[in-house]
Amino acid sequence: MAEEHLPFELTAEQRAELLRAAEQARENAYAPYSHYQVGAALLTASGRIYTGCNIENASYGATICAERVAAAKAVSAGDRDFIALAVIADSAQPGTPCGICRQFLAEFAPQLLLIMGNLQGQEEVGRLDQYLPSAFSQEYLK
Ligand code: THU
Repeated sequence: MAEEHLPFELTAEQRAELLRAAEQARENAYAPYSHYQVGAALLTASGRIYTGCNIENASYGATICAERVAAAKAVSAGDRDFIALAVIADSAQPGTPCGICRQFLAEFAPQLLLIMGNLQGQEEVGRLDQYLPSAFSQEYLK
């Protein structure tokens, strides 16, 4: 598991920057079925930002969420030290990552800082373990 940098907070300006990166990534969302476009931006300890958008499929279950696209890009680049993830959609209130994404992210950063926003500028901030208490982890495999 990647070493975590805690307690880790971002300034309002840093959060806004991450949300802007997520909003830009959302432009590439491929969501012809749900029409719900999502963007994500993941900041790692290296200072890099990995972005993602949701990518749907005619076989609906093959769809992948924006958050997992961003996380897979980071991990595949050898960058597993996750600091914060921003996610944005055109939703009535800031949307939280789905259950699969929570589990996927918890593998690398159980206390990941989550910044959730919508296009109206609302923002919600939390920690992944608040949204996924008692996550399944490698500890159980021993
Ligand atoms: N989706 C995401 O990309 N992230 C979320 O946090 C919620 C759900 C996508 C999956 C699907 O393409 C669409 O949003 C509707 O569920």
